[in-house]
Amino acid sequence: MYLGLDLGTSGVKALLMDEEQEPVASASSDITVSRPHEGWSEQEPADWVRAAEDVVGALRHSHAIEIAAVRGIGLSGQMHGATLIDSAGGVMRPSILWNDTRSFEEAEALDRDPIFREVTGNIVFPGFTAPKLVWLRRHEPQIFDRVAKVLLPKDYLRFWLTGEFVAEMSDASGTSWLDVGGRQWSMQLLDKCGLELAQMPSLIEGTEVSGVLRPELASRWGMKNKVVVAGGAGDNAASACGVGAVRSGEAFLSIGTSGVLFAANDRYSPIAASAVHTFCHALPEVWHQMGVTLSAADSLSWLSAIVGSPASRLADELGDQLRAPTGVTFLPYLSGERTPHNDASIRGALTGLSHQSDREALTQAVMEGVAFSYRDCLEALKSSGTTIDRVTAVGGGSRSHYWLKAVATALEIPIDLPAEGDFGAALGAARLGLIAAEGADPVQVCSRPAMRETIEPDTSLHAAFEDAYQRYRDLYPAIRSIHS
Ligand code: XUL
Repeated sequence: MYLGLDLGTSGVKALLMDEEQEPVASASSDITVSRPHEGWSEQEPADWVRAAEDVVGALRHSHAIEIAAVRGIGLSGQMHGATLIDSAGGVMRPSILWNDTRSFEEAEALDRDPIFREVTGNIVFPGFTAPKLVWLRRHEPQIFDRVAKVLLPKDYLRFWLTGEFVAEMSDASGTSWLDVGGRQWSMQLLDKCGLELAQMPSLIEGTEVSGVLRPELASRWGMKNKVVVAGGAGDNAASACGVGAVRSGEAFLSIGTSGVLFAANDRYSPIAASAVHTFCHALPEVWHQMGVTLSAADSLSWLSAIVGSPASRLADELGDQLRAPTGVTFLPYLSGERTPHNDASIRGALTGLSHQSDREALTQAVMEGVAFSYRDCLEALKSSGTTIDRVTAVGGGSRSHYWLKAVATALEIPIDLPAEGDFGAALGAARLGLIAAEGADPVQVCSRPAMRETIEPDTSLHAAFEDAYQRYRDLYPAIRSIHS
């Protein structure tokens, strides 16, 4: 048995998986985000531990025999958060999360120094870890001066599980301190932030063993074997392990609150200016690229709240047959955009409204706008030489056949839809736990799930979608100019 522990922003999920990689049981426990000031987003690491205790406790209660047989644990987690540890191993302040934008000025300043993009292959985004530490040095120097270790959220859980300070490549890629091509910490970048190598956890691959479960926890949970804890992965790389996007060209598209277009790569080919993220994958010698659109399913939720009807009903109202764009265009920049604009202050728009623009036209425009934001991500990935022939869709929004058809048509590639099952980040983490515990072949373990159906692009609407995409492209600079 193997256990995947996924530390998300809204909760911790545990998934128990057997030797055949079949999910046996799962449990989750909620955690809350505290927003004490505009732009701040924090969590207490103690809440992560409590939630992890809850989920493992729940599984122990319902599946004691299976829990007793666990041999490997894998971790997945929300990326970029700064968890600050003092020399006694204590947490110094609440962790500053990935969606905390307080350090946007520090991010801009670091990003202006060309060395950051040169070494990390990425823009220093406001949510990344390095600018948070520069903010801390300026605003909370009494804490900054005593920082003994900087840990990413799931690596704090690892410290609690094993007592070890260890990070792995995929999550470390989002700190702005990693030499992503060389897969090692960059002393030069740490130095630019007033930090030293000793303040970083040691680095391993996601498939390697980071430590062994502390005897106290093993006995409390009734685990009988020596349980190894794998390096694990940041949540997107972990999802890729769950859905089988680990070999060059394999890709997935997630329509969650935010949206991600993720492609695995056998080489490091950064293209920072396009706001594509180029990160190490959880497997050795594999990288990945991803475009991130900040409001995907969230855009439909926004419309749903305004019209007072569930998002699923709005989607159903459109039926199954893809419609030609009506001339109403939606820019989904409700909370700014990462790829391709790297623009935290841009906001969304609805244009081209007429007397004929009814509720269905608005739903259609929202879905198309999100589809075009994935197209922007695809174009950005293509500009670095990455080709994607087909993608696997995951996430809540992928329940809408209409939406998938719109995305397939906007991207002009087929979309595969997995058969029912659980293959998210927690499954990816459990798979990494299996690989570390058994020394199994990572590519074989991280296979693609069985597919339910393939959604082909609607070629009869290509031209109409292309026109609408061009209109969408032209709108960003226009809207930008009135926002500045
Ligand atoms: C990735 C990113 C999010 C977080 C939160 O760059 O910001 O996916 O990991 O889940």
